[in-house]
Amino acid sequence: MNLIFLLSLCSAPNPVSSLRVESQTNSSIRLCWERPKESDSQNLTSYVQWTGDSNTIETQRTTDTCVTVEELRSGTSYEFSVWVEKDGVNSTRETLNATTAPNSVTLVSCVSTSGGYGLLLNWSCPSGGYEGFELEVGMQRSTQDNSSCGNHVHLLGFGPAQSYTATVVTLWHGLRAKSASVTCQTESAGVIAGVVVGVLLILILVGLLVLFLKKRNRKHQKQETPQDLAFSFFPGDILAKDFADHVRRNEKDSNRGFSEEYQRLCQEGEGQSQTTASALENKAKNRYRNVLPYDWSRVPLQPLEDQPGSNYINASFVPGLQSPQDFIATQGPLPQTVPDFWRLVWEQQSHTIVMLTNCLESSRVKCEQYWPVDSQPCTHGNLQVALVGDEVTENWAVRDLKLLHIEERKTLHVRHFHYLAWPDHGVPPSPDPLLAFWKMVRQWLDQTPAGGPPIVHCR
Ligand SMILES: *[C@@H]1O[C@H](CO)[C@@H](O)[C@H](O)[C@H]1NC(C)=O
Ligand SMILES: *[C@@H]1O[C@H](CO)[C@@H](O)[C@H](O)[C@H]1NC(C)=O
Ligand SMILES: *[C@@H]1O[C@H](CO)[C@@H](O)[C@H](O)[C@H]1NC(C)=O
Ligand SMILES: *[C@@H]1O[C@H](CO)[C@@H](O)[C@H](O)[C@H]1NC(C)=O
Ligand SMILES: *[C@@H]1O[C@H](CO)[C@@H](O)[C@H](O)[C@H]1NC(C)=O
Ligand SMILES: *[C@@H]1O[C@H](CO)[C@@H](O)[C@H](O)[C@H]1NC(C)=O
Repeated sequence: MNLIFLLSLCSAPNPVSSLRVESQTNSSIRLCWERPKESDSQNLTSYVQWTGDSNTIETQRTTDTCVTVEELRSGTSYEFSVWVEKDGVNSTRETLNATTAPNSVTLVSCVSTSGGYGLLLNWSCPSGGYEGFELEVGMQRSTQDNSSCGNHVHLLGFGPAQSYTATVVTLWHGLRAKSASVTCQTESAGVIAGVVVGVLLILILVGLLVLFLKKRNRKHQKQETPQDLAFSFFPGDILAKDFADHVRRNEKDSNRGFSEEYQRLCQEGEGQSQTTASALENKAKNRYRNVLPYDWSRVPLQPLEDQPGSNYINASFVPGLQSPQDFIATQGPLPQTVPDFWRLVWEQQSHTIVMLTNCLESSRVKCEQYWPVDSQPCTHGNLQVALVGDEVTENWAVRDLKLLHIEERKTLHVRHFHYLAWPDHGVPPSPDPLLAFWKMVRQWLDQTPAGGPPIVHCR
């Protein structure tokens, strides 16, 4: 045995004890320990070692029993070794794993959705590690996993036209970052006072905006895209007397205001799940692959025995002035979904169907003719549909239909409002017929307050 080695082993000081983390921030860790219990241990030099960025070994020397290691990365684990040296001989090392606190997030946007009943939050992923996030909006608390940052998180259960504080805290190894907050403003439900108005207005707006955007793009091909839309919201209620001003303001600068409103409209749908709608057994029930109801807002049907997916129809509840489920928006039925459509009408006990398309447009089928053409009733499953009366004018048709549930021997009277004058891929030359149609529908809805929500569909 090597004598020198033996000698040094004998004279090696005892290791430190009680090595611990006193505190940590997102960039520093304070470590403390006890000196070995030796008579002359007061004068011992201690060393702290850790692996820094890019695998460099860092060593810090001290005569104290605490050290604050700085310039560390946030949300990162470090392995520290501490030992003492006496007479040129080092003690054995004590090791300890410790982590820096995580960094805070930045709240990128908080956008009102679902007619003021929902909020869509987006926050950035912090640099360094993070296990999850603690989220508090108004009275709602939740934890979100580590994939939620940089995505849209959709929350429901708010009230329209109100202010909420949203707070996000990063979590990591039991440590919390400083909270980040933003104030969210929910839009006024009055904006969507009725789906008929809503759908029609949106259709008009979308139509107009597509035209405007096309024109604008042609003119300003090279112009920068509208800058960050963070923290800007749809306008709340617009007083009737201010409406003209609102339009004039948005028209400025080649309709820039409208174009920005339109872009914000796209954000509404992001990050919301559509699992049921895109399930294999339901795929064939959607007219368009990219027009699917969200899981949270879809209208479920009562499932039929032994028929997987039989509770699905491409239909969504739409909020209105009175409730989050004032209206139902659905697609024009496909041949295979006509029975589902009538089940929807029956289960919701809806007295009103509003149809905003023609069955044939440019000789393409846009909607199955789902009601009987003559006095011969049609039967779909348990439901028999009969045409009781109709009145056709230049711009619309109004039909009275009678639904009979064959098993239950119960009936339901339904009025079918069919707007005929909407040009395919276009907008009507004048709003007057549309407004007259809307007035008629509104009058009917006010007269028949009982029953389920009106069902509205285009193609
Ligand atoms: C620690 O957080 C502060 C603000 O909370 C931030 O300015 C700083 O950059 C962060 N440090 C590191 C290393 O990320
Ligand atoms: C230890 O340090 C003290 C003062 O710091 C000094 O007076 C003393 O001589 C030192 N002892 C040894 C053994 O070096
Ligand atoms: C004791 O540790 C220090 C710091 O790492 C080092 O410089 C020195 O060479 C070590 N001494 C021995 C005898 O290994
Ligand atoms: C510290 O972490 C490393 C890697 O995760 C592990 O191998 C080591 O045993 C840990 N040390 C302590 C003292 O827990
Ligand atoms: C997020 O969490 C999962 C499982 O807990 C983990 O596998 C993944 O590495 C984490 N991602 C980040 C960026 O921390
Ligand atoms: C959230 O905001 C970030 C930063 O602006 C952006 O890169 C990201 O695309 C946004 N997430 C979504 C889902 O829009």
